[in-house]
Amino acid sequence: MYKSEQLAQHLKRLIENGSWSAHTKLPSLREQAEISGFSLMTVMNAYQDLEAQGLIYSKEKSGYFIAEHLKAQMPHSTTIVSLNPKIEINSLVFKYLKSIQSKDILPFGSAFPDHHLLTPTKLLQMVSQKARDQKSYDQTTNLPPGNLALRKIIAQRYAMQGISTDADDIVITSGGLDALNLSLQALTQPGDYILLQQTTFYGAWQAAERLGLKVITLPEHPTFGFDLQAFEQVIQHYPIKVCWFMLNAQNPIGFTVSDDIKYKIAKRLHEHQIHLIEDDVYEELFYGMNKPLSMKYFDRSNLVLHCSSFSKTLGAGFRVGWVYAGKYSEKIQHLQLMSTISANALIQNALVEFVSSHHYEKHLRQLRRRLEKNKKRFTQYLKQHLGQCCEIYSFPSGYFLWIRLPLHIDSLELYQQLITQNIGIAPSPLFNVSDSNQHYIRLNCSFEWNPSIQTGLDTLIHYILNLQSQS
Ligand SMILES: Cc1ncc(COP(=O)(O)O)c(C=O)c1O
Repeated sequence: MYKSEQLAQHLKRLIENGSWSAHTKLPSLREQAEISGFSLMTVMNAYQDLEAQGLIYSKEKSGYFIAEHLKAQMPHSTTIVSLNPKIEINSLVFKYLKSIQSKDILPFGSAFPDHHLLTPTKLLQMVSQKARDQKSYDQTTNLPPGNLALRKIIAQRYAMQGISTDADDIVITSGGLDALNLSLQALTQPGDYILLQQTTFYGAWQAAERLGLKVITLPEHPTFGFDLQAFEQVIQHYPIKVCWFMLNAQNPIGFTVSDDIKYKIAKRLHEHQIHLIEDDVYEELFYGMNKPLSMKYFDRSNLVLHCSSFSKTLGAGFRVGWVYAGKYSEKIQHLQLMSTISANALIQNALVEFVSSHHYEKHLRQLRRRLEKNKKRFTQYLKQHLGQCCEIYSFPSGYFLWIRLPLHIDSLELYQQLITQNIGIAPSPLFNVSDSNQHYIRLNCSFEWNPSIQTGLDTLIHYILNLQSQS
């Protein structure tokens, strides 16, 4: 065993037995070299190894920190793989989305970042410039598979992550959800088995319901987010056609699965020749120095259809996403021409200019910094006021907090009470169709702190404490 592996294993044991709490700063590389007696290079390799495993995370100019784990988050009973033959979630999601639509509702339940952080001025200038040019509306050059220049830029961004591709592999879609839906439709027939994470984005449940699929769910692993053992058992016992996973900044919980586990998932997919639809719409919203790798990176047999969009970075209103479809490109285009046809031509043209300029990376850096700052503020405040009765899970990416309420509080009831106060929250039945684990809520904390945000949080805290005292 290399020295760096020895050191990584030693530190991993300390992390796993709880010697350090989440977000504790690790000794600097130099300090660790002194403590352990290993060289700086060995320490650096060990830290990078732990980071790849998702046990620690790095922050530019600040060093390495202990990552948040799911420990104790998931009661033991949920470690059961379950079959959900009939799903009926669409009407709940519909009613929920309608209820939080009004401008008067404080958008803690929204899936989108604070719009003040998106739609950069430079992009809007480019859109308005393009809007005056008739050529920008030429739909023919923007029909499926989408604007060639935009596909080339997206392909280059994959290449920057070590994923080789070219423009022909990419299909531009009307947002990320369109990419996910088209991929699932291209790969399945009604009655097929698909595998989802037990707590997952409601879009996956809705798509399964619409396409008449049988859903098996995988429990979250209490420490690593993804339960590899349960995964291996399921794919041995069920004829799974497709998996739909989200492994980076998972919605709603927020965790990112380690590279080591991603590598092992890819290996099993290859052995069983199972396709994976990868939902990676939050891929750019990491806080550390390095963007987490996608499953596509580990996919050597073209089984992964990687779906993403500009909705969480530039604005959901643009409705532009894409799928790295590879050999499924044509099938997806067929389906697209029978449904949404294509993403908006004008916006595709403006995105070509913006995403290829330095403004895009600059915007992403600012966005990540602001999201991290806002999430920290929310976390501190909620831990201070609810720390006694709730568990607040805050992972170093994205803009969601996942909150475990006391067991007897029904998150749907809390949501119904708060909506009468014009406060939105996302209760767990939107993400999990089983009867268990319905005492969680997802909170959007992308907003800049201001008196109305604080009042909203105070009301939320008040209602939770009130329900808690009724036990
Ligand atoms: C996990 C996840 N996937 C996909 C989507 C859909 O993204 P888009 O707005 O690009 O369609 C969302 C939007 O909320 C999401 O949260």
